[in-house]
Formats: sequence, structure tokens, C-alpha cells
Amino acid sequence: MTVSVNHESIDILKSRNEAIDFHCKKGVRKMFKGIIFDLDGVICFTDMYHYKAWKQMADSIGVYFDETINNRLRGVSRMASLEIILERSEKTYTQEEKEALATKKNEIYVELLKQMSTADLSEEVKNTLDALRAKGCKLAIGSSSKNTKLILTQIGLRDYFDAISDGNNITHSKPDPEVFLKGAEFLGLDPKDCLVVEDAEAGIDAAVAGGFASAGIGEASKHPQVTYPINTFSDLLKIQ
Ligand code: BG6
Ligand code: MG
Repeated sequence: MTVSVNHESIDILKSRNEAIDFHCKKGVRKMFKGIIFDLDGVICFTDMYHYKAWKQMADSIGVYFDETINNRLRGVSRMASLEIILERSEKTYTQEEKEALATKKNEIYVELLKQMSTADLSEEVKNTLDALRAKGCKLAIGSSSKNTKLILTQIGLRDYFDAISDGNNITHSKPDPEVFLKGAEFLGLDPKDCLVVEDAEAGIDAAVAGGFASAGIGEASKHPQVTYPINTFSDLLKIQ
């Protein structure tokens, strides 16, 4: 018997099989009701702006700071980031002084964020979000940043998500799971029905601590406890 199959259907079958393999390797075959996305480094890239702002602040007090130290700040709250930078300082700062330094950095950072626009949202990210939503998934943000709404406004996603959990509604930052637990609560979902998408190790630690499955991109894909290591954002469509 001759079966005629065109290239397109072969491609569809191939990608379906890859998706199934993906699930089977992890021993998990389920659809998630909700997906909670980290913002910085997942939906868009603000690393360079954080770096420039921290560098300007550190230079102003004569403390050494470079991109390697900046990498340690990924997923970490503003005040915890400052503590990491001050590890290199000979001077001890009071709480009040630390708050002034963090405010100074944030003022520089917010000014830099004004350069962001809808051009900072890639087609891949937007198309993947739309496709996940079309599958019936609820979508939320789970970010440590207190500037989440500003960043979402800049990239044109201010009203896109079903819920936003960010640095303004938590008392404990990642690796504590609070930001994701609140995100699931805002969606009205149980953590076990949600997938967390992260680029930072602290974010995967937080997902694990909260009982969430996780998809890790970039450095987070190498985390020993990540559920789905992914290479690129659209790989999420192989999971869901
Ligand atoms: C996280 C970033 O999303 O937000 C961290 O990965 C940052 O680098 C943290 O320190 C807090 O951000 P913000 O905007 O509140 O200073
Ligand atoms: Mg991140």
C-alpha cells in the first residue's frame, strides 16, 4: 500500500512526537492550567539596564562592580542585590544609607527603562504567549521586580496577563516561593496545576519550594531540579 504524506504533515508528526518524548523523559504527561512567567530574562531583557544602574551607583561610592557580579543579582530582590554589591565595600552602611543607595540605583534604572518599547518584546515570545492562551491556559507574571508594571507597559503587555504577582505584593523574594504562590492564588489555581518559567537558579529553587513544575531557560536550564530544561521560549509549546 502506498501512503502519500506531504512534508508538512511529516513535520507536524515529528513535532508531536518530540513533544511526547519531552513529557515521557520527565515521566510527566499533563496539561497545565496556568503558567507563571518570570519577567526579567524570560519575557524581556533588562539585565543591561540593571547593570548600568548598579555600576553607576557602585562607582559613586568607589565599590568594584562588574558583569560577573551582576550575574549573581539575577532573580534577587533590590535590597538583596545591594547587599551582594556591598560585599566589596570596606565601609559599613546603616539601613538608612542602604535604602538611599537602592533608591538612587532605582532612579537611574527607571530612567533607563524609558528606552524600552514594544520592540523589546520578541515575536517569538508574543506568538508563544498567544498560542498558550489559545490552548486555554491562564497566564501570570511572577517577578521579584517592583518595576514589573512599568516594564510591562513599556513592552505593550500591561493588560495582557490574567494576574501579576511582583515585588510589591511579597515580603520574601526568590528563592522563597511566595511570589509564585501568590501568582497561583491570583489565578485561582493550585501550584500543582501551574508551570513556572524561569531563567534564574533562585527562581527554580522557588518553584521547587512551592511545589511547582518548572521550565528553565538559560542558566536555569542547568539547575538539577528543573522539570523541563528548554533552549528557547517557544519550546514551551512542546510542554503544553
Ligand atoms: C528581578 C531581577 O526580576 O527583579 C533582579 O532579575 C532584580 O535582578 C529584581 O534585582 C528586583 O528588581 P527591581 O526592579 O524591583 O529593582
Ligand atoms: Mg529572571
